[in-house]
Amino acid sequence: MSSDQPLTALPEYAALERHAALARHWQLRELFAQDPQRAARFTLDAAGLCLDYSKNHIDAQAVDLLADFARAQQVETLRDAMFNGEAINLSERRPVLHTLLRVPRGTRFMLDGIDAAAEVHQVLDRMAVFCDAVRSGAWKGFDGHAITDVVNIGIGGSDLGPVMCCDALRPYAHPGLRMHFLSNVDGHALQALLPALDPRTTLVIVSSKSFTTRETMANAQAMRRWFLQQAREADLARHFVAVSTNADEVARFGIDTTNMFPFWDWVGGRYSVWSAIGLSLMLSVGPAHFRDFLAGAHAMDEHFRSAPLQRNMPALLAMTGYWYRQFFHTASLLIAPYHQDLHLFPAYLRQLEMESNGKDVTRDGHPVQTATCPVVWGSVGTNGQHAYFQLIHQGTDLIPVDFIAALKPMHAHLDQHKMLLANCFAQAEALMNGTVGQQLPLHRSFDGNRPSNMLLLEQLTPVALGALLALYEHKTFVQGILWNINSFDQWGVELGKTLAAQIQTELDDPATTKVHDSSTAALVARARAALG
Ligand code: F6P
Repeated sequence: MSSDQPLTALPEYAALERHAALARHWQLRELFAQDPQRAARFTLDAAGLCLDYSKNHIDAQAVDLLADFARAQQVETLRDAMFNGEAINLSERRPVLHTLLRVPRGTRFMLDGIDAAAEVHQVLDRMAVFCDAVRSGAWKGFDGHAITDVVNIGIGGSDLGPVMCCDALRPYAHPGLRMHFLSNVDGHALQALLPALDPRTTLVIVSSKSFTTRETMANAQAMRRWFLQQAREADLARHFVAVSTNADEVARFGIDTTNMFPFWDWVGGRYSVWSAIGLSLMLSVGPAHFRDFLAGAHAMDEHFRSAPLQRNMPALLAMTGYWYRQFFHTASLLIAPYHQDLHLFPAYLRQLEMESNGKDVTRDGHPVQTATCPVVWGSVGTNGQHAYFQLIHQGTDLIPVDFIAALKPMHAHLDQHKMLLANCFAQAEALMNGTVGQQLPLHRSFDGNRPSNMLLLEQLTPVALGALLALYEHKTFVQGILWNINSFDQWGVELGKTLAAQIQTELDDPATTKVHDSSTAALVARARAALG
C-alpha cells in the first residue's frame, strides 16, 4: 500500500480486527476437540520442510482474512516486483535480488543491460576454483604449507550467516580446515584467537559489503600487522582475500582486487550469505554442498512465488506472526531450534527480522500506526527448557514460539535424538494444553492456550538449511509489507556509528571533546582516566 490512508483504515484490517476479537477468547484445545482434521488442515509441506501451524489461535476464516489483508497490502504485487528486480528498496533506490543469487545456472536475468544471473554464476565458479585449491592443499601459503585455518573477518550480515551456516553444516565440514569468525571489535576476541593461528597456514577473508565498517577494518588491520610480523608484504596475496561490493576500498586496504570476490549493491547485508559473503561456508563444506544450499533456497523461492497466500509457507508464518503482534499484543517471538547445530540460528534471525522490520516509518514516509517487529530471541532446546521456559509457560506475557526440529539426526545416538524430539513435541503440547482438568494448587497449574508453530526438517542437510533460511527471509519480507515498511534499509544504526567515531577521537585526544550530556561526558572522562 502506498497512499496516505493508514492501513488501519482498510476494510480488510477492520475485518481482521473483528475476527481477532473473537479469536482472543478461543481455547486451542477446544479448537482441536471441535475439528479432528485440524492438524491436517493447518499443516503444509513445501520445499522439503513441514510446517504445522495448527496450534495457533486461527481458523480457516482467520487465514482467509489475513490473506485478504495481505493482498490489499499488495504482498503478491510487491513479491513479483522483488523477483523482477524493481527498485523496491525505496530509500536506497535499489532492487532487492538476493533470490537471484540462487537461480540455477543458465537462467538469464537482465539488469541495467547486463545478465546479472550470468555474473552470479561467474563469481560462484571463481569461488569454487579458489575453494577447491584451498581444500585440496594446492593453494600454498608463503612458506609452502597448505592452509589449515580460515578467519572470516566481518560483522552483522558479513558474519552471522556464514558462522551460523558453518556450524549448522558441521557434519559436512572439511576435516583439515578450522574455521574462525572474528566480528567484535573487542580486542579480547582478537587476543583469544591469535594464539591458535600460524601465519604460514592461515587464510584471512575480509568480508564487508561496504569495506568501510570500522570494526571490520580495525580487525583486518590488526590481523595484517600480526601477519607482517612474520611475513613480507608480497606474501599478503597468498593469505588475504576480500569479499565486497567496493573494489576501491579493497585496493586502498592493500588487497589486490584479483584476490577479491565481488557481489552487488542489490544484495542486502543480512541477505548476503548466498553471495561471495558465503566464501567461508563454501571453503568449509565445499562447492557442491554450497550449491545444494543455494538449490534449497531456490526451491523455497519457487514455492513463495507460486503458492496461493493461504497455502504459502512464508506468508503463513508472516501472517500468523502479524496476527499475534497486532491483535494479541505480543512483544516477542521465541525461536527454539531443537538441534544443537542450529544454536546460532536465533542470533541470525535476530538480525534478519529486527534489522529488517524494526522500523517506525512507512514506505511512503509516514509514522507507522501500529506496532511493528517484535523482539526475536531464543536458544537451542532442550537447554531453554531448563532456563527460561518457566516464563513461557507461566509468565504473564504471551510469547509465541517457533519450534524447529529435524526428524533424522546426523549422528548415531538414536536414543538421545528420540529424547530430544520428545521434549520438543512435549513443550508444544504443554504450552497448548497446560494442566487444565487436573486438580492442582495454583502455583502448579497453568492454563496453557499458548501458541506455537512446529517446523520440521527431514534432516539438517545443505538443501534443508537453504530452504529454512529462505523461508524466514520471505517471512520477513511479507511482514514488512503487512506493516507497510521498507525491510531493506537500516538507517537506525547510523547515528550510533557517527557518535562512536567522535567519542573514539575524544578518547585519544581530549582537545577534540564536544559538548555531551553530563552522563556521557563523565563516562568519557572516566575511560580516559583509566586508559591514560
Ligand atoms: O551497521 C549495520 C550493517 O550495515 C549491517 O546491515 C551489515 O550487515 C553490517 O553492518 C556489516 O556491513 P558491511 O558488510 O558493509 O561491513
